Amino acid sequence: MTIIVTGGAGFIGANFIFHMMKAHPDYRLVCLDKLTYAGNLSTLAPVMDEPNFRFAKLDICDREGVYRLFEEEHPDMVVNFAAESHVDRSIENPEVFLQTNILGTQVLMDACRRYGIQRYHQVSTDEVYGDLPLDRPDLFFTEETPIHTSSPYSSSKAGADLLVLAYHRTYGLPVTISRCSNNYGPYHFPEKLIPLMIANALNDKPLPVYGTGENVRDWLYVEDHCKAIDLILHKGRVGEVYNIGGHNEMRNIDIVKIICKALGKPESLITFVTDRKGHDMRYAIDPTKIHNELGWLPETKFADGIQKTIQWYLDNKAWWQTIISGEYQNYYEKMYGNR
Ligand code: NAD
Ligand code: TYD
Repeated sequence: MTIIVTGGAGFIGANFIFHMMKAHPDYRLVCLDKLTYAGNLSTLAPVMDEPNFRFAKLDICDREGVYRLFEEEHPDMVVNFAAESHVDRSIENPEVFLQTNILGTQVLMDACRRYGIQRYHQVSTDEVYGDLPLDRPDLFFTEETPIHTSSPYSSSKAGADLLVLAYHRTYGLPVTISRCSNNYGPYHFPEKLIPLMIANALNDKPLPVYGTGENVRDWLYVEDHCKAIDLILHKGRVGEVYNIGGHNEMRNIDIVKIICKALGKPESLITFVTDRKGHDMRYAIDPTKIHNELGWLPETKFADGIQKTIQWYLDNKAWWQTIISGEYQNYYEKMYGNR
């Protein structure tokens, strides 16, 4: 079994490669990644020299390059994590989101059609469903919830999802889609809420909470997401969408306070800043389908997962300090300088 994992030098893709190498040591894993600002080759150092692993630096929009890789590797499956993934960046510059997230997905699926594939899996997001109101805790996203996006990021992911389903219906491509809630864990790029707050707190810098901090996200430990995708690849029904989430809704402000407490830092570091444009209020997944059909349940409780994550950032300072000492500084100044 050969699996091409796109975006495997990023947060979830790398965790997925580690999971698959352990769970299926007889599989060949080929990581296809452009190494954008979010991709980090050092993350893959532990597997780089494994005989059943290959890294290919490639843009998923590069049709010729992608076709060449398919000719060389004859993949049985493709799992597409490659994406521009940060909502704030999509608000600043939507174009690359449409290119990578939609057109890149098309190139990958064209390659799958041309060379044949057992499964094309699209890693999507609960953000395609838009948001839920804070005063309706009884509402959850199911797979039947209408697509209703808010940001250029979520719109580009929704566009890709629709294209994936169209390739299934029109060309019979054997696809599956997973729509997961917010992940956290090791190797999370420090532009996102949890690693940004950990890094800032450790550096005694202000902790920039958007708006009032009451927005709710449904947090899932990254390993649980990887296990869910593994299950979908092997047992999921072709043509189906599976929501992934752990009923772990938390307000942003509470997450930041937990991080302060765990690191022994004062809550006075918390600074309320101008809200994100179009900021989604609440995400909450109903994971009944994946539980009933595939038996998936999240294994890591938030209290344990956040401690493990914080410990990882304490133990791996070089990984994130290298990132935040580079180009990231310009990004940070632009996004937070006058906020
Ligand atoms: P990330 O930003 O950490 O990593 C993205 C990876 O994709 C990077 O390695 C980057 O170099 C690569 N990439 C970007 N453009 C590329 C291109 N044109 N060609 C090849 N590689 C390219 O993202 P992540 O948080 O690991 O998210 C992975 C996937 O999971 C995304 O599709 C995202 O939409 C989805 N997702 C993320 C979350 C989350 O909480 N992070 C939740 C649900 C779904
Ligand atoms: P983020 O990690 O960017 O994920 P997403 O927007 O895809 O859910 O943000 C999570 C939440 O945290 C979101 O409500 C925005 C908020 N947030 C802040 O309050 N401050 C920050 O500096 C960042 C990056 C996010």
